[in-house]
Amino acid sequence: MLVIRRKSAEVRAGIIGTGFIAQVHARAARQAGAQLMGVAGTSVERARQAGEAMGAERAFGSADELIESGLLDVLHICTPNHLHAPLTLKALAAGVAVICEKPLATDAQSAALMAGRAEEAGLVGTVPFVYRFHAMVREARARIAEIGRVSLVQGSYLQDWLLEPADDNWRVDPELGGPGRAIGDIGSHWCDLAEFVTGDRIVTVNAQTAVVIADRATNAPVLTEDVATIQFRTASGALGSVVVSQVAPGRKNRLFLEISGTSGSLAFDQENPEHLWLGGRSGSRALQRDPLTLSEAARPYSPLPAGHPQGFHDCFNAFVADSYAAIQGDHRDGLPTFEDGARAAVITDAVLESARTGGWVAC
Ligand SMILES: NC(=O)c1ccc[n+]([C@@H]2O[C@H](COP(=O)([O-])OP(=O)(O)OC[C@H]3O[C@@H](n4cnc5c(N)ncnc54)[C@H](O)[C@@H]3O)[C@@H](O)[C@H]2O)c1
Repeated sequence: MLVIRRKSAEVRAGIIGTGFIAQVHARAARQAGAQLMGVAGTSVERARQAGEAMGAERAFGSADELIESGLLDVLHICTPNHLHAPLTLKALAAGVAVICEKPLATDAQSAALMAGRAEEAGLVGTVPFVYRFHAMVREARARIAEIGRVSLVQGSYLQDWLLEPADDNWRVDPELGGPGRAIGDIGSHWCDLAEFVTGDRIVTVNAQTAVVIADRATNAPVLTEDVATIQFRTASGALGSVVVSQVAPGRKNRLFLEISGTSGSLAFDQENPEHLWLGGRSGSRALQRDPLTLSEAARPYSPLPAGHPQGFHDCFNAFVADSYAAIQGDHRDGLPTFEDGARAAVITDAVLESARTGGWVAC
């Protein structure tokens, strides 16, 4: 008989939140070999119910009790956005590393404070910009030099889950979700991905926002945008634009990014993540995810053979595994940190200011 030993330096994790993304974090934490020490929600009963499904060892009556339990190496913060900053600061003060959901904070100043505190404390802080963990995103990033000088970066992030007046959520309330809703919730993912793949920076933005559904069940009048259009210029001089909507019928979670250069194009569609479109004047093709042919950078994020589709859970699993590796001193390329979360918050603030003033705003 062989005794299989678990790693002695097993990460001890806690999760605050019991909703959609908390379940995804719990699965990824278990997959990465963590011990799930505890869960906290809005009540101990909710934490107990959710904790059972998540495979957690204990249910806590409040976030503070979990943070102060002394049981954690890392805290996953999966709550509404307004709690990200205060809970992160408490956890860092208690010496606990943090994986905090996006948007990192509801304003750029708080996000910068969080990044600064993590740095001062010497603790890992990461943000689940998980689309970075699609193998074909890594492939696009590895091939960016092949398309020549980038001239245009464009795309969209479209959803329809808030299409009807009856559709409502804490995200719609600026007190809970922040002053920018579609921009902070999904626009932040797109901007992070565009900068990650190109290695370039958005330096100035001009944006418009609109509320399409003026009254919802509990939020009336609605104060945060359903749609946004953003034009931008990058540090290298490329032009760009992105359209963001949470009321686009038929679009569920369509993050689309296309980059045109002087000798080729690259396009990635989050809902069709097994392919990367390689555009060329004399011919184009869809490159299939296949660990046998992918670049070295993409291969670690392609654990399954070609034709066995990977998806959102795989991205999350890889992100959490890389976050834990960083906590254990192994910093892997492409890990989205609090610095990246703070960067996205600067862009969000600039977009909101531009939408308010009508002018171009630096970011
Ligand atoms: N990275 C991604 O791709 C991704 C995807 C979805 C959501 N998110 C982010 O995750 C966060 C949560 O989103 P969701 O979709 O899971 O929302 P949700 O509404 O499904 O869950 C929110 C959870 O927070 C809990 N909560 C609220 N107040 C609390 C408090 N005071 N103490 C403890 N728990 C409390 C609620 O009980 C609920 O379980 C948001 O910041 C969102 O932007 C990220």
